[in-house]
Amino acid sequence: MLPTVEWRDDHVVMIDQRKLPGREVYVECRTALDVARAIERMVIRGAPAIGVAAAMGLALGVTRARAQGTSTLAREFYRLCDRLAETRPTAVNLFWAIDRMKRVFSEAARSGWSRDEIGERLVAEAKRIHDEDVATCRALGDHGAAVLPEQGRVLTHCNAGALATGGYGTALGVVRAAVAHGKRIAVYADETRPFLQGARLTAWELLNDGIETTVIADGMAGSLLRAGTVDVVIVGADRVAANGDVANKVGTYPVAVLADRHEVPFYVAAPTSTIDLDTPDGGGIPIEERNGREVTHLGSSRVAPAGAGVWNPAFDVTPHDLVTGIITERGICRPPYGDNLRAICTGGGH
Ligand code: MRU
Repeated sequence: MLPTVEWRDDHVVMIDQRKLPGREVYVECRTALDVARAIERMVIRGAPAIGVAAAMGLALGVTRARAQGTSTLAREFYRLCDRLAETRPTAVNLFWAIDRMKRVFSEAARSGWSRDEIGERLVAEAKRIHDEDVATCRALGDHGAAVLPEQGRVLTHCNAGALATGGYGTALGVVRAAVAHGKRIAVYADETRPFLQGARLTAWELLNDGIETTVIADGMAGSLLRAGTVDVVIVGADRVAANGDVANKVGTYPVAVLADRHEVPFYVAAPTSTIDLDTPDGGGIPIEERNGREVTHLGSSRVAPAGAGVWNPAFDVTPHDLVTGIITERGICRPPYGDNLRAICTGGGH
């Protein structure tokens, strides 16, 4: 299993995803602010992974706090919650994980526990969020494996793999589970401009697992789908609105349109922690805009002339009518999403 992020003794260790696949470098975070900066700078990325990292960051914040009194500690804790929440706005897992940590903190503080005891509770909760995420990905993968043929080709966009989660992955978890069930699956990975998560990360982790992988430039997906080369498209999600609209890495929406045009099923693999019933539709999902340098440069080399305008939204929204199904750890949710997402999230079946 790839060590995406780990609580080690009294600090957090994460693999620096900016350096992959060239170098395997591990970054140590010793404070909550170290974690916040790691999320902003994409040392760690992917919706579930940044949720896990934020939870660990809050645990670090309390175990290392100098404050002794509960009210000073509470002020410090909630300040760190705000700091971590402002790192990236789109992935709802970040806010979901912070809310879980807030609940544990306030319960522990209400019970009159010492700072050390509260710290222990928070470390335990962060580790639980991590472990649950891996278990969730495995369950999701097992459900999703059923949509793949005995032998087939999957197209994916960005990296929704072990690196984007606590481990195992969502979209790539489906591929891993299918392979584990004996299916012969090959993957086409969109390179995913501008940050190249597909070319750098998806290809790296799938090849590490011995899964056949072909990298394509994003603009090639249409030709591939038209040629009938792809059996199923599977992508991850940063946030699924209550009506089934899906925010994911920019470039997902064009793939969904192409899949629809060529009658190829388009699945979204996402844990229920990515489903945001409080946001009615995709129009309400905040879309992060990142530094234009990611578009004008490839690494340190400038590829667009100085002076060119840049627009760099990190995510786009795929309307629910283009989504064949949403694969969760509780089963596959199909239209009508309004009712079925609510049922799957509240445990009432789907
Ligand atoms: O900007 P990133 O790399 O954090 O974007 C990641 C994605 O868009 C993933 O597809 C999504 O977070 C799902 S990860 C299981």
